[in-house]
Amino acid sequence: DRVDWDPQETGKGAYDHYMLKEINTQPTALKQTIEGRLDVEDATVDIEDFDRGTFSEFDRVQFVACGTSYHAALYGSKLLDDVGVDSTAYRANEYDTNTGPACPDTLVVAVTQSGETADTLKAMRYAEADGATTLAVTNVVGSTAAREADHSMFIRAGPEIGVAATKTFSSQVVSLALLSRQFAMDFPDASPRADFDELAEALARLPSDVETVLDQSNARTIANRYVNDDAFFFIGRDLGFPVAKEGALKFKEITYQHAEGFTSGRLKHGPLALVTPSTPLFAIVTGRHNEKTLTNAKEAKSRGAPIVLVTDDPDAHSDLADVGLEVPSTHPLLEGLLANVQLQLLAYHAADQLGRSIDKPRNLAKSVTVE
Ligand code: G6P
Repeated sequence: DRVDWDPQETGKGAYDHYMLKEINTQPTALKQTIEGRLDVEDATVDIEDFDRGTFSEFDRVQFVACGTSYHAALYGSKLLDDVGVDSTAYRANEYDTNTGPACPDTLVVAVTQSGETADTLKAMRYAEADGATTLAVTNVVGSTAAREADHSMFIRAGPEIGVAATKTFSSQVVSLALLSRQFAMDFPDASPRADFDELAEALARLPSDVETVLDQSNARTIANRYVNDDAFFFIGRDLGFPVAKEGALKFKEITYQHAEGFTSGRLKHGPLALVTPSTPLFAIVTGRHNEKTLTNAKEAKSRGAPIVLVTDDPDAHSDLADVGLEVPSTHPLLEGLLANVQLQLLAYHAADQLGRSIDKPRNLAKSVTVE
């Protein structure tokens, strides 16, 4: 399985930054991720050499990953919940202190864009030593993770140059959505989703939904309005939680402004002490289970915080939101990905406004090869 990387593709083209190019080329990246793997009519997936039954000896999944890939793993873990596959997402650097040994019925899925992150490789080796089977979900054919793992799935996002990961997050999540279908069919204890046809249709539509977000986003206006504020909070529940984490990570990585992402319900257990009229709150209310997030956002609003709702229905919340970041309606399991694209644009435009070194933020590296 090889996707050749065209040298043309590695230039910045008409874009000021690689990051903006990579955000804007997500529809293409996602098409590549899905191509040949999803049959919408039959509602089936066919992932290269994973014949049906490849994963039939496993009872549970442990994800290991770092940074943005960890957030994709958290998202993936929610997708597996939905089909009754037992899974946990671990930060790779904490894996060996956490669980005790993995066992032969555990499939350890390493999510790593580069396939070279030392913490992730170490977690994979630790699991292998305990007899677990490993699967690398990576962007780089021939990477160490791909070579060492028992199985590999390539996310086919194409080269990503910006240190802040964008299109690879989206392609990782879509890869995990495809895998969730395979696992649901293979794992003996799983409960395959009866309505996969709806998710399959939504996956096929995702590139054009992302295009709609890119064409219509008002993230730049919102970034300009709040960029000089004191701190930025991102909240969400369920699938909105990894999106809140990723939105905050992207924002802090490239703006150098303080940003935190957490589950909506955590706001009142401490962070609320920090909320002021100069701490905008970004609430992810896409997908499902949003009632409490709205209640938590109200608590922040009553302390004066500006509220930005990322939603597919801005009219429904016009009394609460100071402003909305709108996304098209789609399958509840995928709306979070569209919300994330809005937050990528928000971080980009805020960093641009501040004149930051967007493609190479200070102190950060694209791939961290030391533990
Ligand atoms: C570093 C990068 C992040 C990336 C993480 C994991 O921290 O700065 O952008 O998400 O490594 O990288 P990987 O290649 O394993 O996905």
